[in-house]
Amino acid sequence: MDIKKLDNMQDLVSLCKRRGFIFQSSEIYGGLGSCWDYGPLGVELKNNIKDSWWKAMTYREEVEGVDASILMHPQVWKASGHVDGFSDPLVDCKECKSRFRADKIDLDAPCPSCKAEDSFTEPRDFNLMFETTMGPVKDSGSTVYLRPETAQGIFTNFLNVQSTMRKKLPFGIAQIGKAFRNEITPGNFIFRTREFEQMEMQYFIKPGTQDEAMKKWKEIRWQWHLDQGLDEDKLRWHDHGSELAHYADAAFDIEYHFPIGWDEMEGIHSRTDFDLGRHAEHSGKNLNYVDQADGNKKYIPYVLETSVGCDRHLLAILCNAYRVENPETKEERVVMGFKPKMAPIKVAIMPLMKKPELETHARSILEDLQKNYKCEYDVAGSIGKRYRRQDEIGTPYCITVDYDTLEDNAVTVRDRDSMAQERVKISEIRQYILNKFGF
Ligand code: GAP
Repeated sequence: MDIKKLDNMQDLVSLCKRRGFIFQSSEIYGGLGSCWDYGPLGVELKNNIKDSWWKAMTYREEVEGVDASILMHPQVWKASGHVDGFSDPLVDCKECKSRFRADKIDLDAPCPSCKAEDSFTEPRDFNLMFETTMGPVKDSGSTVYLRPETAQGIFTNFLNVQSTMRKKLPFGIAQIGKAFRNEITPGNFIFRTREFEQMEMQYFIKPGTQDEAMKKWKEIRWQWHLDQGLDEDKLRWHDHGSELAHYADAAFDIEYHFPIGWDEMEGIHSRTDFDLGRHAEHSGKNLNYVDQADGNKKYIPYVLETSVGCDRHLLAILCNAYRVENPETKEERVVMGFKPKMAPIKVAIMPLMKKPELETHARSILEDLQKNYKCEYDVAGSIGKRYRRQDEIGTPYCITVDYDTLEDNAVTVRDRDSMAQERVKISEIRQYILNKFGF
C-alpha cells in the first residue's frame, strides 16, 4: 500500500480545524497571534497526554505532585534570574517595522520581510515575561509576572513537600501547568506560542550524584515518548555540550523530527544548586536538607529537571499519527493512527440507519461503554463516510448495529488500521474492547 506521511504543517492545521482538534483563538475577531484553542477532540487528546505524563511521573514512590499558582511573588523572578536575564536580543526593521530575534537572522542581509538593505536597528534585549499588576492601584510596587516556567513553583515548595511528605533524597516534585512567554517570533502552529503548558519535574539529589540521576531520567523520559506512540527514528538526543545555560552543568534535549525539521521537545537538565541556592539567598530562608543518611550533613540539594512542553508533545503526536493511504486514488484514506490510550474518541457507535429498533441497541451499547470510554454516537450519512470521519479523527474501533443485530444480538466491530470487521455478541462487547485496549 502507498502511504504518505505528513510533510507539511498546513495539512495538519486544516485537519485540526476541520475535525475539531484546534482552532485559532478569538477567531470571530480575526484571531490573536500565536494563541490557539483546543476543541472537543484536542482537549481530549491533551488530557490523555497529561494523564499519561502524570501517571508515569508521579505514580512512583519517589515523586509527588503540586499545582502552584501562576502568579508568584515578584522576588521569585528576581532570584531565578528571569527579571535580569530572561531576554532575547531583538531588532526592528526601520522600513517595515517587522521584529526579529537578532540571533535567528543574518544582520548583514536584507530584511526578510520587505527586503530593505541596512534597515535593522541595533540589537536590544527584550524580556520575555508578561507583566501585569496586582490589586487596585497600578504602580511599580504592584507589578507581577505570568510565570514563564512552572519550575519555580516547585522550587519554592521544596521544603513544604519535603517536610509534609517526609521525603528523603532523592525525590522529585512534578507539576503540569500554563506558562507564558512574550516570544518575539512565535509560530509553526502550536510549536512556539505565547501561552503554553509545561509538564515539569525537579528531582532533588545529593550533590555529586547528578550523572547517575541524569542517566536514569534520560532512559525513563525516552521510553515515555516511545510508549506514547512516537516513532523512534523520529526522535534523537541533542547534547548541549559546553553551550549550557548559566544554571546548568549538563543538558540534553529530546528532539522530534517535525515537518519543519528537527527541534526540541523536552529538556533534561542538571541545574546544580543554582535555583534553591538563589531562593535561599533572596528569601533569607534556610533551604538546607539535613542528610540523616550522611551524619546529618546539611546542604542545598542539586536538581535534575525534566521539562516537556505539553502542546509541543501534542504536536509531535499529531504529526506522527497522520498518514494518507493510497493518496490521490479512489481508495485514498486519511488516518490518524493514535495509540488507543491517546485517541480522543475510543469507540464510535453507529446504527446502520436512523431506525428506532437499531437505535435502541446502539444507545444501550453507548451508555454502557461511555462509563469508561469517551465514545461518539453517529447516525448521520452513509456508513462509509462515517467510517472515514472516524479514521480521520483516529478512533480505534467503530461498532455498527445493523438489521442482523435484531436476529443474532451481535454487532460489527471495525478496526481502524486493518479495516477488518468482526462480529461480536453485544453481551461480550465490553470485554472485547477491554481486551483490545488493555485499559
Ligand atoms: N524549566 C525549564 C524550561 O522552561 P525551556 O527549554 O525553556 O526550559 C521547556 O522549556 C519546554 O517547554 C521546551 O522543551 C518546549 O517543549 C516547551 N516550550 C518552551 N517554550 C515554548 C513556547 N513558546 N511554546 C510552546 N512550548 C514551549
